[in-house]
Amino acid sequence: MSSYDVIIIGSGPGGYVSAIRCAQLGLKTACVEGRDTLGGTCLNVGCIPSKALLHATHMLHEAEHNFGDMGLKGKSPSVDWNQMQAYKQNTIDTNTKGIEFLFKKNKIDWIKGWATIPEAGKVKVGDDVHEAKNIIIATGSEPASLPGVEVDEKIVVTSTGVLSLNKVPKKMVVIGAGVIGLEIGSVYARLGSEVTVVEYLDAITPGMDGEVQKNFMRILKKQGINFIMGAAVQGTEASKSKAKVTYKLRKDESEHTLDADVVLVSTGRKPFYDGLDLAGLGVEMTRRGQIAVNDHWETSVKGIYAIGDVIEGPMLAHKAEDEGMAVASVVAGKHGHVNYGVIPGVIYTHPEVANVGMTEEQLKEEGRAYKVGKFSFMGNARAKAVFAGEGFVKIIADKETDRILGAHIIGPAAGDLIHEVCVAMEFGASAEDLAMTCHAHPTYSEAVREAALACGDGAIHM
Ligand code: NAI
Repeated sequence: MSSYDVIIIGSGPGGYVSAIRCAQLGLKTACVEGRDTLGGTCLNVGCIPSKALLHATHMLHEAEHNFGDMGLKGKSPSVDWNQMQAYKQNTIDTNTKGIEFLFKKNKIDWIKGWATIPEAGKVKVGDDVHEAKNIIIATGSEPASLPGVEVDEKIVVTSTGVLSLNKVPKKMVVIGAGVIGLEIGSVYARLGSEVTVVEYLDAITPGMDGEVQKNFMRILKKQGINFIMGAAVQGTEASKSKAKVTYKLRKDESEHTLDADVVLVSTGRKPFYDGLDLAGLGVEMTRRGQIAVNDHWETSVKGIYAIGDVIEGPMLAHKAEDEGMAVASVVAGKHGHVNYGVIPGVIYTHPEVANVGMTEEQLKEEGRAYKVGKFSFMGNARAKAVFAGEGFVKIIADKETDRILGAHIIGPAAGDLIHEVCVAMEFGASAEDLAMTCHAHPTYSEAVREAALACGDGAIHM
């Protein structure tokens, strides 16, 4: 039996980041992971492999659509699916090995296997029981199931199976117009699949700024993605090589079917804590099945903490990372803090979509007075030079104080641009503070400054 100051269960972005910080703070640390590689869903079957496929297919799109206009002539590249899969795998491998290196560097023990918690202070892996003064549960999430839909990860797939299909399907039906559905739908649409997204609500990407939702959908439609909105999927029927999707239109309850070679189920994820026997331990849960924690990420059982997708809040890798660092500080006897009001969200399509803080819809509901500064990428010289003039930056500021309350970007590198606004919000900056900051020319970032200028005396290039 070995004993540790802290054992972290799960090595996704929440768990591995927490392990590194715990070790840096001088705690004897171990991390339990049952997969063959570290990094959890994000590195193995989520954020990282999907970004490799998004990058490769974006390059294909550039070659097919923009190379000629730039004077780059010749045959467009053809797709070698096996090589693209190998590139994706290589991207995963370099990243997961990187975490293994960081574990060694920080003297973190990787306990291989699936953990159970027989009692507070003890973690069992296989036949070994390890002692831990503190336990951090960072076991993440898994795809939520949908009634009437049986996943086989070949024809009817989740975000995991869809990354490793045998071939590019001719017809793909995506259930759910959320982040996963739209990123993966983009990948296969660029590869030539006929992609149809079936969404229950009347707008895509629930909870996002309404103007962004409308523009994003228009752009995706132009890229060849079909949408059936206000449609509740009732079930799927799969044969060896095909599937049938049945949906009901909400407006008239009429029933319809769609044929597909592959169906992606992307209707949300749910917390994963199988085998931990949380009920037996007396760990309290929320009504939505997440592990309940207090302000210090401690569960109702002393010495057991939880972070990331298993607790409340957006299921985002970076939210889990922040909690991972904060809980490490708490366990080390220091203060840990996460500013939940400034957590960006990004969709890595092309153009990218990014947001932070409040939407206009939320502010209206709160009855709070606000102003909006908006700037189109059509007025941004750099964006125009690279065929990326579609989209806009929208900054929302308090009407009286000018303090930035939120930002919503659709456009080139939106996922990077958003962080300028995040930093500004962390410092309680006003739109004027951003507008008065010199921005290099020609950069996409100038569009952020212009939107901030538009909150005051006006943008220059509009
Ligand atoms: P989601 O919650 O973003 O979207 C699911 C969509 O499915 C919703 O629009 C919902 O209305 C629709 N839906 C539900 N039941 C339906 C039915 N029966 N018929 C038709 N439509 C139905 O879920 P998603 O895309 O699966 O993502 C899961 C989680 O993973 C999210 O929390 C997301 O933030 C996270 N994620 C984040 C990424 C990023 O930050 N880039 C990338 C991938 C995942």
